[in-house]
Amino acid sequence: MKNFKTVAALRAFRQEITSKGETLALVPTMGALHKGHLSLVELAKTKADHVVVSIFVNPTQFGPNEDFDSYPRMVEEDSLKLKPLNIAGVFAPSVSEMYPNGYASTVSVSGLTDCLCGAARPGHFDGVATVVSKLLLQSRADYAVFGEKDWQQLQVIRRVNADLNIDCDIIGAPIYRDEKSGLALSSRNAYLSTKELASAETLNVTLRSFAKDIRDGADIDIATADATQKIINAGFNNIDYLECRESESLKRVDQFDPKHPCRVFVAAKIGSARLIDNMAV
Ligand code: PAF
Repeated sequence: MKNFKTVAALRAFRQEITSKGETLALVPTMGALHKGHLSLVELAKTKADHVVVSIFVNPTQFGPNEDFDSYPRMVEEDSLKLKPLNIAGVFAPSVSEMYPNGYASTVSVSGLTDCLCGAARPGHFDGVATVVSKLLLQSRADYAVFGEKDWQQLQVIRRVNADLNIDCDIIGAPIYRDEKSGLALSSRNAYLSTKELASAETLNVTLRSFAKDIRDGADIDIATADATQKIINAGFNNIDYLECRESESLKRVDQFDPKHPCRVFVAAKIGSARLIDNMAV
């Protein structure tokens, strides 16, 4: 498994495999890898001849009062987890490699980013769109795999890829859930105490019954109020959003219509962790 630290080294590898007519899949991550990330790698391996995992805690997608400083960084442990998967390499650039002195460009997507995490975390998707554009252009990956847990992020990345003609095949991978509790795996789950973890495990259960109520024709406002109460009762301190939106456009849904696929989305805080989840209605 190669260890790429510079864009030049990654590019040289890309050229080498291109000359042999081979393909590359990229799995962009911020590290602190868990089974969910490893499932993205497994999916990537089914698509391309070579897989590279990028590990970069991207400063531009964190707000001033967010957890950039405390975000877990463990590139060596992450590399050990990746070794058995027989991937081509890890791309773990420094901040100055990704954002050299004088860096002044931002990729910004309008519309899709006005709601959900875009509204709750101003500037977040500019950071994501910028770093993902850079990673896709640096690697010239044929495929890139992203988890559906960050559903809005996936739609934003699809938009950027199409709008900027990056020409990568963007693949969404199903949310990896804890087998027993259904909790969506996240690097931020590491922030949870045992008691908070027990509360966190109720989030997917509430979201599932919220989705079912909507599917069964419940009034969405009433279903939202009911699910909100359950989340607060479970011990969450704050709910950033709990909403039903169209799956692709992310437009708000006022009345369920089986002809238009929609999903329910939640972001809620417990202790110092902000957890997100979503599922199809
Ligand atoms: O989903 C993530 O881990 C990050 O937002 C991503 C896509 C790696 C960009 O930094």
